[in-house]
Parts: sequence; C-alpha cells; structure tokens
Amino acid sequence: MASNPPPIHEQWSSRFAFILAATGSAVGLGNIWKFPYITGENGGGAFVMVYLLCIVLIGVPIMMAETMMGRRGRQNPINTLKTLAAEAGASANWQYLGWLGVIAGFLILSFYSVIAGWSMAYVAKAFTGSFSGESAGVISQLFADLKASPKEQAFWHTVFIIATMSIVARGVSGGLEKSVRFLMPSLFFLLMLLVAYAMTTGSYMQGLEFLFKPDFSELTGAAVLTAMGHAFFTLSLGMGAIMVYGSYLPKDISIAKTAMIIAGADTAVALLAGMAIFPIVFANDLAVGSGPGLIFETLPIAFGNMTGGWLFGLLFFVLLVFAALSSAISLIEPAVAWCIERFNVSRKKASVIMGALVWVLGMGTVLSFNEWSEVTIFGANFFEAIDYLTANIMLPLGGFFIALFAGRVMLAKHSQDELEINNQLFSVWKFLVSYVAPAAVFIVFLNVLGVFGIFS
Ligand code: TRP
Repeated sequence: MASNPPPIHEQWSSRFAFILAATGSAVGLGNIWKFPYITGENGGGAFVMVYLLCIVLIGVPIMMAETMMGRRGRQNPINTLKTLAAEAGASANWQYLGWLGVIAGFLILSFYSVIAGWSMAYVAKAFTGSFSGESAGVISQLFADLKASPKEQAFWHTVFIIATMSIVARGVSGGLEKSVRFLMPSLFFLLMLLVAYAMTTGSYMQGLEFLFKPDFSELTGAAVLTAMGHAFFTLSLGMGAIMVYGSYLPKDISIAKTAMIIAGADTAVALLAGMAIFPIVFANDLAVGSGPGLIFETLPIAFGNMTGGWLFGLLFFVLLVFAALSSAISLIEPAVAWCIERFNVSRKKASVIMGALVWVLGMGTVLSFNEWSEVTIFGANFFEAIDYLTANIMLPLGGFFIALFAGRVMLAKHSQDELEINNQLFSVWKFLVSYVAPAAVFIVFLNVLGVFGIFS
C-alpha cells in the first residue's frame, strides 16, 4: 500500500486559535455534567485531590506529548503514529494505538450526544419557564420524566448528532474559533453567578467541605481509577483528539505553556461547577450520589428561584450545548479525518457515514435509561458499560502508550525539537512521560484488578 503522507491539512491562524480550539475540546460535559456527579458518587474531597494530582502529573505531560506528536506527524493519529514510528525505527504496530483512539472517540460520542441532548431538552424547558419557582421535588420529577422517555431523548440526540456532523462536514476552523472565543468567558460568568447563588443557600460551606476536604477513608481503588480516567476524559487525552489539533499547529508555538493554560482553564470550570452544585444538593436534601442526572436535578432549582433566573437558565443551557458541541467535534474528527484520508472520500460523505453510525450506537444509551435499564453486563447498563470501557480503560491505556511512545520511542532530539523548552524542563517532562505517567496507569489498573488492594 502506498504510504506517502497525504498533503498537510489546514493550519490554525495563531497560537490563540489553537488554545481556543483545544480548550473548546477540553471544556464540555466532562466538566459540568460528569465531574460533579462522579465526585458525588465517589465521596468528594479525596477523589477530587486524586483527580487534581492526575491532571498535573499525567494530564499536562501527556497533553504536551500529544500536541508535539501531532505537530510532527501532521496527519490523522493513525498515519501520524505510522510516520513517527518509521522515523524512530520502531514497529509499524504503533499505528494500532491510533486505532484505539479513533474507536474510543467514536464510542464516547455515542453517549456524549445523548447527554448533550438532555442539555438541549433543558434549553427548551428553560425557555418555557418550567423551572420558575419550582421545588426540588418538581425539578427531580422533570428529569425523571425525560429519563423515562426514549422518544424525547432520541429526538434531541438526533438534533445534536446532526449539528455536530454539519460542523465537522465543513472542516475544523473558522466558526469554531469564533464561537469558543465568546463561549468560554460567558460560561465562566454564568458559573460564577451560580456560585454566588450557592452562597445564599445556607449550605455553601458544607458544599465546599464536601468538595475540598479529603476523607481518605472514602477512597476506593475503583474511585482512584475513575479519577484518573476522568483526568484523561476532561482534558480530551488518550485518543488522539489533541494530536489531531496539534497537527494543525504552526511551528513557532510553545507547547508547554499552551498545555498549562488549557489544563488550568479546564480545571477551573470543573471546580466552579462543583462549587455551584454541591451547596444546592445539601440545601435541598438531595443525594450527592444520585448519578448522571445530578446537574439536571440541582441547577434548575437555582434558576427557578433567583432573580432573572429565566434568562440565566436559558443562557446556561444554551452555553452548555455549545460547550458540548465544541467537544463533540473533537471526538469524531479523528474518525472523519481517517475516513477521508483512507478511503479518499469527501469530508461531507465521511461525516454522514460516521454520524449515522454514532447515532445508532447512541440509541443504546438512550434505551439504557428506560427500556433496557435492566439489561446489564458486569452490573453495568449499556451507558455505564461504554462510559467505563472508554473513560476508565481505553483512554488511560491510550495515554499509557502515547506517554511511552513520546518518552521512550521517539528520539529525544525530535521531541526536544518540537517542544523547544529548556533542558531542565525537558528532563522533567521526559521523566513524567517515560516513567511517572505509565507507572501510574499501570499501578492503578493492577490495583483495580485486586493485585495490590490499596484503598480497596
Ligand atoms: N473533554 C471533553 C469534556 O470534558 C470530552 C472530550 C472531547 C473528550 N474530546 C475528547 C474526551 C477526547 C476524551 C477524548 O467534555
């Protein structure tokens, strides 16, 4: 088979454009929907601490690795790995790492779209004033009704997939940059407003304590894996999304600084969401561990009871949908880029095919909340199984190999050439990707399999 690298695709207009797009990919449902509910399910503070540690020691170095590899390889993740492996004289089997990523992104988008669909349903509910003055009980019922309705969820899931694929069909750039530029500051503003509301609930300190006061007796081995998996999920790492974005990155940009800015912004959004949600949970006697519905059962209470809540609620869910869109694009871009370069089809055709496949799989998640809720494998329903498989297994595994590749397979001369950081920083980075990140993933995996029994 001909292995000439396909022509280099477009480039970002600037470093800022890359930061915007990568932040757009990182900040999404993972921060606002997933982080709070898994924190609630896993006991709070200690879980948050492990998560933060993973962001700094594993997330940032791997983000640098992915960006650097993408910029050097300049193709979809599969071909990038093929090229870089050849350059380093390593086995062509490394391309399968690219495959793992393409499949992970595809699987994640299938449930991501359903949850983004819930957010769209909440835009409609906010618009018609469904939250206004309502109690926690009514708000919970609103969510229970949505969960019980395959039709309503399927409808919004369909709308979201169509929206995502029509953006992807037009190519990554222009529109994305502009929307993220407006999106991020607005999202920050609304989260601050929600935190301000949380301060008036009388349970603000209790919420903060839950979030930030570690109680290590609450920490299980499974929780540590979830925290680590979420560090990958929230930064969009381990599957080549950032690698694809890195492949559009001009040569003269500091990858290290950029990675830190993105990780910082992403973490800030997640923590703000937690600071808004937990006080509301405690003030209304809701359950912290109520699961994937948590934000939909709490935030509407705030909007229903604050001045200007109609407008703010509407704005919030609109922004959440846009945040989800800018993430969804990066989940499917590797698969679409691969489809185009492999089969030589148009971007439009590739988008339609991928969109249709993801849609079908997503219906499994829709049904897992109602008709199929009793259908389980290892005790997990369809949604939980795909979530576990991707976030807790595929992403950390992908990250493990990406770290090893960047740290040990690539020549230091080449990685240093791309990273362009001083020698000391380079040694720190190289140590983190060569040893710390892979060892952490390995130990956490073995621990969950019961080999060590730490925090069991
Ligand atoms: N990071 C996004 C979020 O937190 C989700 C996401 C987008 C993602 N692209 C990804 C997760 C690639 C893993 C891999 O909502």
